[in-house]
Parts: sequence; C-alpha cells; structure tokens
Amino acid sequence: MNYNEVLENARKNMAGRCLVCKECNGVACKGVIPGPGGKGSGSSFINNYQRFKELRINMDLVYRRTGIDTNIELFGRTFKYPFFAAPISAVEIHYPGYFSEYEYSDAVVKGCKEAGVLAFTGDGETKACLLSGLDAIKAVGGVGVPTIKPWGVKEVKEKIKMAEDVGAVAIAMDIDAAGLPILATEREIGPKPIEDLRELVNSTKLPFIVKGIMTPDSAERALEAGVYGIVVSNHGGRVLDNTPGTAEVLPEIAKRVGGKMKIFVDGGIRTGLDVFKALALGSDAVLIGRPYAIAAYGGGAEGVAMYTERIGTEFAQTMVMTGRQSLTEIDSTALWK
Ligand SMILES: Cc1cc2nc3c(=O)[nH]c(=O)nc-3n(C[C@H](O)[C@H](O)[C@H](O)COP(=O)(O)O)c2cc1C
Repeated sequence: MNYNEVLENARKNMAGRCLVCKECNGVACKGVIPGPGGKGSGSSFINNYQRFKELRINMDLVYRRTGIDTNIELFGRTFKYPFFAAPISAVEIHYPGYFSEYEYSDAVVKGCKEAGVLAFTGDGETKACLLSGLDAIKAVGGVGVPTIKPWGVKEVKEKIKMAEDVGAVAIAMDIDAAGLPILATEREIGPKPIEDLRELVNSTKLPFIVKGIMTPDSAERALEAGVYGIVVSNHGGRVLDNTPGTAEVLPEIAKRVGGKMKIFVDGGIRTGLDVFKALALGSDAVLIGRPYAIAAYGGGAEGVAMYTERIGTEFAQTMVMTGRQSLTEIDSTALWK
C-alpha cells in the first residue's frame, strides 16, 4: 500500500462526509457537522489552517552537522517525533458506515504506537466513545492519552479512575466540548473553575492535560490549578465560529506560561513544516486531527503509521534545512519576520 492508495480508500470509506481534499483546509466541509467540518461558517477551522500556512521558515545551512534528533521526552517516555494523533471520537456519527468506535480507536492507537508516537483518544455521548479508546490503549500497554469530556466533576473522576486502570500514561479533558453541535445532552457538561480543575488534577497521580485553551489568561488559570499541560486548541474550529487560528494565539500563551507547563497545540497542522512552525511559535509538541482520521479510514493501523513517518520525515528534513539539530534549538528565530 502506498499513501495515494490510502487517500483513495479513505475517499471511499468516509461516507462522503470527508472528501479527502488535496488540502485539508476546512473549505469544502464548512459547517459539515456531523462530519469533519468547522462550526457555522467554518472560519475557525479555515483560520487554523491558513495561519500556519502563512508562516515562512528561515533556511540555514552554514553549520556543522552532527546529527538530527527528533526525539521528545514526555510522560517519562521517549517518542520519535513531537507530534501525536488528536482525539477523534463519535466516528460512527461523523463518518457513518465503515468503522465502529472500537475499530477506529484500535487502528489509530496501534498505528501511532508502531510508528513511535502516541494517540490521544476521545469521549462522547455513547459509552463506546470513551471505552473504545481505553480498550485500545490497554492493548498497547498504556501508550495513549484518553481525553475525557468536561462532565460533572464526579463523573470525570470516575473516568479518570478508568483511565488509570488501563495504565494510560496521562489523561486529558477537552474543556471546550460544551460548544459541540452534536453534544445535545441532558448530562452536566461545561466549563470548569480553577477549584474544580484543581480537584481533578489532585485526584490522580497521572499527568493531567486541559485541551481547549485559546487565551493567556485561561492558560494561567489552568497553570494555577496545577495541570501538567494545556492543548492550545479551538477543537479544530468545531465549537465556536470566528475564533482566531491557534497559530495566532500560541505565541502570547507561550510567553505567559511557557516553561512552566507543557504546551501542546492543534488545528490545521498538516505537514512536517507545520509541526516545525508550531514548535518555533512556542509549543512543546503538536496534535494532528483530521489527517490521522483520513489515514485510518484509508489504511487502518498501517495507514496511520505511514502518515506518521511521512510527517516525521518532512519534520526532520526541515530541521536539516534550518540548522536545528534538536527540538530545543527550534525557536522563533527560525521563522521569518
Ligand atoms: C470528527 C471529529 C471528532 C472529534 N472528536 C473529538 C473528541 O472526542 N475529543 C476531543 O478532544 N477532540 C475531538 N476532536 C477535535 C480534535 O481532537 C482536534 O482538536 C482537531 O481536530 C484538531 O484540528 P485538525 O483536525 O485541523 O488537526 C474531533 C475532531 C473531529 C474532526
């Protein structure tokens, strides 16, 4: 199987909801929810993509090459690249008729593990959304991060316990999920004050990550609650229309809380060059969403591993071309101003 075949298969298997466009930029799928689109006009998804594309990278080839190290240490482990699969769930609703939740989670978690990175898994209205990820993570010895919806504190704590039981290396919560159009639920779900976040952080020994931070102030509140890290994210533009792209807000957030906790970022990151740009803007690591779904629908675990290696190779080549031999050398001077 080559990657063009993966894309062709995905086009057939994604129920016409995702068209597997040449550029996964949010234009053709504006407002397509259920499906992969951004909310409303789709502008938040489009901004994510566009703002990364606009950044320019400085070349630098006058240096002594000693070796390019793309490895990252996180959660007490070493990963091959500083990017991971973002949580994607409710796939039976978004791309109906092909994968069950269990088959999808299994493909992504396994493929990432094989390629030397890890997958975040999701949560949703049906039990299978969370459980499928937990099962898949258990099967690979815990190398994955279950991402729990911001239910009431008692329910989140129960789910944290379930994540601990499968040996997950960390836990996340997508605090922005209350804005999801498909999550019309009677259950308690929504924002969390610092005290609730602190209670959740203190309820587990595992690193706790809050996903869905878009301002320096909310990043600072998460820091005050003691989280291990944040994901700068607008949920791929799916929870609020008219937000800035994550590349626009990341530098200010990194200025405020960088070095004090881990900063992940997602939204519109498509290539190894984009991963490099995200690190240059101040993040420690990156999540990639829709392209991983496409890789899984087109090629299962093999497609996921193949996609990871493609992006990883591009990332390593970008390091060579910019004279950055380790992740810590990638800073804002690598971008053209
Ligand atoms: C179909 C679909 C389902 C998603 N499900 C979840 C989820 O269960 N939990 C979560 O935190 N984020 C979820 N997300 C958001 C992604 O984790 C991620 O933030 C976003 O897709 C990143 O943008 P990108 O797809 O442009 O890379 C979902 C996104 C899509 C497209």
